[in-house]
Amino acid sequence: MPETTEPEVLLTGGTANRGQVTRAGDTVRRPQHPTSPATHALLRHLADVGFAGAPRFLGVDERGREVLSYVPGTAITPPYPEWALTDDALVSVADLLRAYHGAVSTFEASPYTWPASPPAPFAGELISHNDINLDNVVFREERAVALIDFDLASPGCRVWDVACAARLWAPLRPEADIDDTRRGRAIARLRLFVDSYGLARTDRERLLAAVRENHEWCYDIVGTAAANGHAGFSDYCASGALERATRTREWYLRNGDVLRSALL
Ligand SMILES: Nc1ncnc2c1ncn2[C@@H]1O[C@H](COP(=O)(O)OP(=O)(O)O)[C@@H](O)[C@H]1O
Ligand SMILES: [Mg+2]
Repeated sequence: MPETTEPEVLLTGGTANRGQVTRAGDTVRRPQHPTSPATHALLRHLADVGFAGAPRFLGVDERGREVLSYVPGTAITPPYPEWALTDDALVSVADLLRAYHGAVSTFEASPYTWPASPPAPFAGELISHNDINLDNVVFREERAVALIDFDLASPGCRVWDVACAARLWAPLRPEADIDDTRRGRAIARLRLFVDSYGLARTDRERLLAAVRENHEWCYDIVGTAAANGHAGFSDYCASGALERATRTREWYLRNGDVLRSALL
């Protein structure tokens, strides 16, 4: 694919590829990784089944970067706008995630080499996104319309993505670590997310375990990257992320009953 003649604008908000994601016209340029062929096959499948909630894979440019379609809209970053933290916005994220899981459920993933899967009880059902962070969801008119950043997608399962999203969007952490309009509403938002998604009974029963394992899995990725000198994740750790993670871990232990009863 020819090098773009459009001026490139840096897209900020992410951490893993910080400083390396650009927009050129209606395309996005991102670094490739060893597992990119798998991710590209996934994006091609989503396009083939008519799923509109993901970027299109357009090719590789002369600098070896992946070229994706730019999804018009807003991916939110701190300080988060209030419209993105409403219950309606949350329901739209649950709707989008369910639609993604429906679209991906017919994808044949076995020919490809994927990034690491979630732990065994949560691996192998379908290709989960695995990183439903606030800055990986594009909104238009205050509704979630697309998931972006499929770099961590791998053979996982539905409840793993629901756990990740609920953890970050409810969010599930001590009140003192919530400094926006979601404070005091986390448990109600957990329930709303799970109900809106329509999580199956058997998955509800293992959601809390998934939340706790997902928390550890994500902070393993952060800690390992920081230990390897990754600048973005090192800065994230320097901002107190690991201390917040410890407080959250303890909060899960103290609030198991509250969380479980919110799900039944
Ligand atoms: N295809 C896309 N369409 C629209 N915006 C995008 C797209 N890809 C990335 N962005 C924007 O760039 C930011 C960083 O990109 P992302 O691929 O998520 O980087 P990272 O891998 O570092 O998290 C996103 O949070 C979003 O604002
Ligand atoms: Mg991202």
